[in-house]
Amino acid sequence: MKFGYFDDANREYVITTPRTPLPWINYLGCNSYFTLISNTCGGYSFYKDAKLLRITRYRYNNVPADNNGKYFYIKDGDTVWNPGWQPVKTELDSYECRHGIGYSKWNSKKNGIKASMLSFVPMDDTCEIHQVKLTNDTDARKDIKLFSFVEWCLWNADDDSRNFQRNFSTGEVEVIDSTIYHKTEYRERRNHYAVFSVNTKIDGFDTSRDAFFGAYRDNSNPEVVCEKGQCTGSIAHGWAPVGVHQINVELAPGETKSFVFVLGYCENPDNDKWESKNVIKKDPANKLLAKYQTDEDVDKAFAALNDYWNNLLSIYTLESNNDKVNRMVNIWNQYQCMVTFNMSRSASYFESGIGRGMGFRDSNQDLLGFVHLIPERARERIIDIASTQFENGSAYHQYQPLTKRGNSDIGSGFNDDPLWLIAGVSAYVRETGDTSILNEQVPYDNDMSKATTLMEHLKRSFDFTVNNKGPHGLPLIGRADWNDCLNLNCFSEHPGESFQCFGPSEGPVAESVFIAGMFVKYGEEYAQLAELLGDTAEAERARKEVKVMYDAVLKDGWDGEWFVRAYDAYSHKIGSKECEEGKIFIESNGFCSLAGIGVKEGLAEKALDSVKKHLDCEYGVMILQPAYTVYHLELGEISSYPPGYKENAGIFCHNNPWVSIAETVIGRGDRAFEIYKKTCPAYTEEISEIHKTEPYVYCQMVAGADAYIPGEGKNSWLTGTAAWTFCNISQYILGVYPTHKGLSVDPCVPHGFGDFRITRKFRGVTYNISVKNPSDVEKGVKSMTVDGTAVDGCVIPFDASKKSVDVEVVMG
Ligand code: GLC
Ligand code: GLC
Repeated sequence: MKFGYFDDANREYVITTPRTPLPWINYLGCNSYFTLISNTCGGYSFYKDAKLLRITRYRYNNVPADNNGKYFYIKDGDTVWNPGWQPVKTELDSYECRHGIGYSKWNSKKNGIKASMLSFVPMDDTCEIHQVKLTNDTDARKDIKLFSFVEWCLWNADDDSRNFQRNFSTGEVEVIDSTIYHKTEYRERRNHYAVFSVNTKIDGFDTSRDAFFGAYRDNSNPEVVCEKGQCTGSIAHGWAPVGVHQINVELAPGETKSFVFVLGYCENPDNDKWESKNVIKKDPANKLLAKYQTDEDVDKAFAALNDYWNNLLSIYTLESNNDKVNRMVNIWNQYQCMVTFNMSRSASYFESGIGRGMGFRDSNQDLLGFVHLIPERARERIIDIASTQFENGSAYHQYQPLTKRGNSDIGSGFNDDPLWLIAGVSAYVRETGDTSILNEQVPYDNDMSKATTLMEHLKRSFDFTVNNKGPHGLPLIGRADWNDCLNLNCFSEHPGESFQCFGPSEGPVAESVFIAGMFVKYGEEYAQLAELLGDTAEAERARKEVKVMYDAVLKDGWDGEWFVRAYDAYSHKIGSKECEEGKIFIESNGFCSLAGIGVKEGLAEKALDSVKKHLDCEYGVMILQPAYTVYHLELGEISSYPPGYKENAGIFCHNNPWVSIAETVIGRGDRAFEIYKKTCPAYTEEISEIHKTEPYVYCQMVAGADAYIPGEGKNSWLTGTAAWTFCNISQYILGVYPTHKGLSVDPCVPHGFGDFRITRKFRGVTYNISVKNPSDVEKGVKSMTVDGTAVDGCVIPFDASKKSVDVEVVMG
């Protein structure tokens, strides 16, 4: 069952009922000011950091769901309604929400009044715009009232939700004309405030939540709107400051009136904060608000946002016979890659924004799907991430985006982390050809006195694995590898202890076959980077180490039918036929195979067949089977989840593309695509009532076959699935892969996929690639011509002097 439809021409998903199975959200903002907004106008805003500079309040895990947002109330006689339906939930005569690329729109009607709303964050300002247009579709004059509503967060979202003994006394605001200023803590150590304004004279305001709602009432029936019909002019002192405007609107038959609301973040220099005693300096707010006073201003800013995205989404475009793939490749998958790049795993409807900052491993992987869009931002991110590495090559697992400092609560010891840095840097250099990044001086643990070149960072990443091997010559796992929940050195017996950080955590015995697979893949990419810098001795050393690891995997990481997952702290196998539960895992099989381990020996094929046989289910490839049914002290968090959920036999969408990529490595296009389809939003849209999360983006986890409701998705938006699926579809299935020498075109498609065309902008050159598949094969390039000239192999020689290149590839 569907709750809307894709409008590909407008790059929108159109939601046709507010009663979606879960709130279906969108992200507004590309640079530093961000808003999460649901189809019923729930959500919140922040500047740069969802924990430290939260602008409006949200209540996670609340009843009813999706509580608090930026609401507009329309009072039309005795009827009160919201264009987004929540929070009053008056039945609407019609409702539509269009989530687009960086904006959302609503079109709703009630009793002859039409409300159209457009919400977005302009490209270069730290604010969001909500343009509300009200139209009178009746034959009679209408006198209605429009109320706006936001609830301020007192900046630090963590403190805001806990420290009430203080917070109930600190709230402060100022109101001047139509602008409400939220200035809590500005009197002491903050130099920033928030504004909420509208481009018209107002007929009232409130800034005290209690005054607006009335005692024992909430945002679903504010006393001011529902009873009094008139704001009280309250000025908040402590308690809960809000921002409410009242506008009395008179509409002749057929008349439309438009209002531009701006909610923004403003900063003053520390030594120039005040206009007069305790009166905040308004200059930055005045400057900001002056830019958005008319509908023309809004149109201009909105056009700039659309231009920005038109340009980004023209870098990789596909025309094929498959609408669903076109839609994911051209629109939604790339859009999600931008969002995951911006957010890492910090702020979503499942990530509270106060828990995790940027993940070392996560952000490096997010880069893989983003780097083609804005390489300069990827470059900056790489330097930030690498700056949190330690001198021995290990790394802080997370860092806070505002401070860019490593998070010492979690610390280091996740032994896959270092290798992901190689993955990120390699992707950047292959995309851009910019080897200068390798010579940048980058600190360790943010200490510039210890800086070395980035290439030296990569060497230490590589050597971290070389220097930290266990009894089988396989990499030590530490606190966990990619699977945060495989905690082989933790042995936690008491609730509340962190599975990752408790106990010895970094034991000398437990080993990861998955990290071995990574080492083989990224060890080779490291060797190629060394070669680019002319260091052939280092490249040779690296390849020797890779070979040693390859052999170790085949010797002790192979279980007869598939790759073992790991060895525990007693050196017992995990993910082996010898085990009672957890006999086979996805990660080692996907990654070792995609790294090429066992391909020539025929073992990769065997492993992938076993994956299909044991891990496949209707909704995707499960992470392991059989599920753990009891808690295993020696395995940690993985066995803490009920069977079928999360890392315990859920479908962890992130690693489905690894298996799909591995299938392309051995040339099985049908199977690669079958896996691609199973978790692909454009395909799962049909079962939205089961899947529940947004049908336009990937979610982290879908409940596996053992779960109570198999196929139910959770944790949408912020997942490495976005980047990995985009790599899978764009670079492996469609096969346009950036190498150091130029783009290679080597598709691996399912039978019947047909001919297709790809436009790819790469290092300043536009490639118009036409792929023909006359014999309907899954893989193989029979011929390639570049501007009419035949070329050997499948790499298009890079020629910077050309602006546009026509490439024809014939498969066969
Ligand atoms: C989450 C984490 C990611 C981890 C995965 C598997 O998505 O963000 O870092 O790899 O879970 O545990
Ligand atoms: C939990 C989750 C896992 C996530 C981790 C982050 O363990 O199951 O997916 O990566 O938390 O700390």
